Amino acid sequence: MSELDALKERLSNLQRDALAAFDGAADLAALNQLRVAYLGKKGALTEVLKGVGKLAPADRPVIGKFVNQTKQALAEALQQAEAALAVQAKAARIAAERVDVSMPGRRRPAGALHPVQQGLDDLTSIFAQMGFAVAEGPEIEDEFHNFDALNISPEHPARAMHDTFFMQDLRAGDDGEPMLLRTHTSPVQIRAMRRLLDNGGEPPLAVVAPGRVYRCDYDVTHSPMFHQVEVFKVDRDVSMAHLKGVLQHFLSAYFEKEVAIRLRPHYFPFTEPSAEVDIGCVFCAGKGCRICKGSGWIEVLGSGMIHPNVLNAVGIDSNKFSGFAFGLGVERMVMLKQGIPDLRLFFENDVRFLRRMGVAL
Ligand code: PHE
Repeated sequence: MSELDALKERLSNLQRDALAAFDGAADLAALNQLRVAYLGKKGALTEVLKGVGKLAPADRPVIGKFVNQTKQALAEALQQAEAALAVQAKAARIAAERVDVSMPGRRRPAGALHPVQQGLDDLTSIFAQMGFAVAEGPEIEDEFHNFDALNISPEHPARAMHDTFFMQDLRAGDDGEPMLLRTHTSPVQIRAMRRLLDNGGEPPLAVVAPGRVYRCDYDVTHSPMFHQVEVFKVDRDVSMAHLKGVLQHFLSAYFEKEVAIRLRPHYFPFTEPSAEVDIGCVFCAGKGCRICKGSGWIEVLGSGMIHPNVLNAVGIDSNKFSGFAFGLGVERMVMLKQGIPDLRLFFENDVRFLRRMGVAL
């Protein structure tokens, strides 16, 4: 074989090998290494071209043309391989960065309403839907609103029964009277009626008043702070029938079933007549169980017709107007509805209890 033919063969072998290698390059870095290996200064092509010097001068232009063809073929193959790898790399990146837009987002724990707050909201909104206006009064009260105006005179035994927290040294009323933490939400009756008259209004007045109350009492069934909802209505010809109708509607709405109710004669200084209200036991449906102590009934609230002395104390003519009122313990209502066995659970703030009972926001 002539030198020329031998060189031609080496060139075409080199081209064949190079094209195959470019084709098989795994990535751009590998391809670049191949470029250096074949076309670099110390590459395979340079190596082959060293043979050109040995050729007869007449053969040199022939091999020159051949070399150029080879170079061009390699350059083209490199370009193609590069383009193919670029497409591949892009596809790989798109696959790797793919976002699943149907995947649900990561939720932050939203927190929940405390069961007592939920109870307050539920109870208040039942009355708001019946047309009662929501009102609130101060937790630090004076004796007039908490007692006197509610027909509880200073020597009345009910005062002692209220286990009042007095704040004699902390804050004195306008007339130097001692202040106290309200023992019930009934003083809101006085404040709401007074506000109505002060603004030149007159009954009808229908109010629901949720809030905190305080009693110096602590055991399994008593907490020094708890919540009440006070409900009352004053108008012409308000009767016990209205009271019973509102109670029946409200208790069935709150317990989300038709509950039996029973009014038992009782005594409150600020209502006459007064009644304690029982519902048919929500745990045994009246058959008698541990919770209702076998009676089939559970006491849920105190109620009555607003005492004429209370209306007169705020300046409402008790000959023209009458009213009903009742007050209920929120924790007790929530315990009955949710089957919570121990009042203290509300105040310990054990997060397991709150998670289980809480209504997610
Ligand atoms: N204020 C009474 C209590 O705390 C409840 C009540 C309110 C009773 C209104 C009758 C009328 O026990």
